[in-house]
Amino acid sequence: MNPLNRLVVRTLPLVPRPLVRSIASRYVAGETLDEAIATVRALNADRCMATLDVLGEDVTRLDETEATVIEYQRALAAIAAQGVDSNISVKLSALGLKLDPDHCRHQFARIVEAARAHGNFVRIDMEDSPVTELTLQIYFEFLKKYERVGIVLQAYLRRSLEDGRRVAQVGGNVRVCKGIYVEPASIAFQDREEIRDGYMRLLEALLAAGRYVGIATHDPVLVERALALVARLKLTRDQYEFQMLLGVARTLRRRLTSEGHRLRVYVPYGEAWYAYSVRRLKENPAIAGHVLKGLFAPGSSETGP
Ligand code: FDA
Repeated sequence: MNPLNRLVVRTLPLVPRPLVRSIASRYVAGETLDEAIATVRALNADRCMATLDVLGEDVTRLDETEATVIEYQRALAAIAAQGVDSNISVKLSALGLKLDPDHCRHQFARIVEAARAHGNFVRIDMEDSPVTELTLQIYFEFLKKYERVGIVLQAYLRRSLEDGRRVAQVGGNVRVCKGIYVEPASIAFQDREEIRDGYMRLLEALLAAGRYVGIATHDPVLVERALALVARLKLTRDQYEFQMLLGVARTLRRRLTSEGHRLRVYVPYGEAWYAYSVRRLKENPAIAGHVLKGLFAPGSSETGP
């Protein structure tokens, strides 16, 4: 770990909560649904679509999952009532995946029913490798019941190209990202270029198979390669979209939208913002560098949501 990142992670518990909050506010829409919808509205005005994520993951008690289901139901209702352009992204571990997969299925079904009632789309986020296969299985099960459910594949996992083929066979809608969890070399590429190569192989396999892909990255090298691929495959703008996290790479984001590409911003919100920020830092201390940048250049040249 880079010594600076290590220092940030170690000293984080000493940093006053309001300060962490002010740093996190660039990456998190707020604690309430109203704040999240206001952020989505601002993004829509800036030619971006959104996906709402209710913060919270890896629950330790099954009764904690209820609040998450209710919040997603409220979010879907608010998106419809307020006419904003957003879908939702769900982490199955927030619904008890790691405690009781059947409970998770039951709770996820309630969210999917609400999405169906509002004609909206649900993306299942991909978490760490112990739950990759189970997450895919649940995705395949739900895709049979409701076609507007999508999945995420992580390019750093050695298995993902094969998973991409499985998903392509059933006609899935896939977000491709590098992968954020720390995984061992036995199952995941570690080298930056190897991960990029894995990303492009997976992206090409999915796009060439006619799948709709969310190209989730802020890596300018990957964005250029993806644009070249899209041009080579002669895809139209409605066959893919770019995706970025709230508060990250806004200059690149605006370049893509001004060129007419569809772009969706991932908008996390909820009371669990502090746990989310701290956990992300501990899991992947490389992000600490970004937090530090946020601390010293909170306004920087990139403004807006
Ligand atoms: P890279 O890490 O090389 O970053 C490129 C540049 O982007 C950096 O140099 C930096 O400037 C900036 N940057 C990247 N991340 C930043 C951050 N957090 N804060 C500030 N600046 C940052 N992962 C996963 O395992 N499961 C999932 O379901 C998802 N879902 C998801 C949705 C969306 C919309 C995005 C954009 C990403 C994810 N991810 C994810 C995270 C993803 O796997 C990956 O960790 C990050 O996107 C960083 O990888 P990049 O491709 O951006 O490249």
